[in-house]
Amino acid sequence: MDEIRQQFLSDLGKANTPKELEEVRVRYLGRKGTITTLLKNTDFSQLTPDQRREFGQKVNDLKRFAEAEVSRAIEAAKARAAASGATAGVAGLDWSLPGTDHRVGCIHPIALVQMELEDVFHSMGFMVLTGYEVELEYYNFDALNIPADHPARDMQDTYWLTNGMLLRTHTSANQVRALERFGAPLRAIFPGRCFRYEAIDASHENTFYQLEGLMVDRDISVANLIAVMKALLSRIFHREVTIRLRPGFFPFVEPGFELDVQCLICGGSGCGTCKGGGWIELIPCGLVHPRVLEFGHIDTSKYSGFAFGLGLTRMAMMKYAIPDIRLMNSGDIRFYEQFPAAV
Ligand code: DAH
Repeated sequence: MDEIRQQFLSDLGKANTPKELEEVRVRYLGRKGTITTLLKNTDFSQLTPDQRREFGQKVNDLKRFAEAEVSRAIEAAKARAAASGATAGVAGLDWSLPGTDHRVGCIHPIALVQMELEDVFHSMGFMVLTGYEVELEYYNFDALNIPADHPARDMQDTYWLTNGMLLRTHTSANQVRALERFGAPLRAIFPGRCFRYEAIDASHENTFYQLEGLMVDRDISVANLIAVMKALLSRIFHREVTIRLRPGFFPFVEPGFELDVQCLICGGSGCGTCKGGGWIELIPCGLVHPRVLEFGHIDTSKYSGFAFGLGLTRMAMMKYAIPDIRLMNSGDIRFYEQFPAAV
């Protein structure tokens, strides 16, 4: 009986899964099991009544011991499987099947560029503010030197709300809000979603993303503007970029510029992306108009500033060489999956 007990314990130790343990149970305790048949196979006629009783008791003890051990081991194995989520020993499981591919989310290219720009500006001491998508006419237009009868309002077809407010047509709406709130000196960027009542085509959406920048301090000049723009572009595109300024008109800057960057695809020799011209119009900017500073209660005898408003969509298209704006909102996973899951 001791031998059987030893053998049983060693078999039990080798069995891991609930299924293997069940096999051990049947081998020892099943109808034809080693322990069960002990009584049957013993010739009791050779034993005295005392010996019979003692033998019977020992067999019963062994049986109870084995039963307890097996069920304890089965419970433990089940708990292990549940805890690890493992399906070990589950009948019908085919271990040779290929596993399930876990898809990892990825960051949208516009969000990627925005995050990167926020980092760059943060390192240059700029605050990151977001403002409001539903905006007052005052901040979106009037305070930016665009009065009601100004033709520049036509440049931005506006979604008007029934309560007289509007969906901001540009992130410039944050400029005077920030000046009112923080005063000068001020360094801030305002990334955000903007809306215009536009017909949608290959290069126009009615909802788009901008990142506005504003720096107000003593003696701010075009030189500061150029330095910051060059720093940001070389950080975003990971190389030195060549830029040029052309005059541009926006009522809230004077002088106003269109900042062009030498085409990053062809290096300026002319290609499809730059439409043969060698330059790409990237960032409208300028020195903040004194009237805007006054709307923000800034003392214009002491302070001046620059502002810029870059299109995040266009920036992302340039950075990642994305050929069609409609891919951005296509919902096509194959497109999104080409971008990293983290910055
Ligand atoms: N808000 C202008 C637009 O959406 C872009 C812009 C131009 C912003 C010049 C600026 C700027 O800050 O200085 O068309």
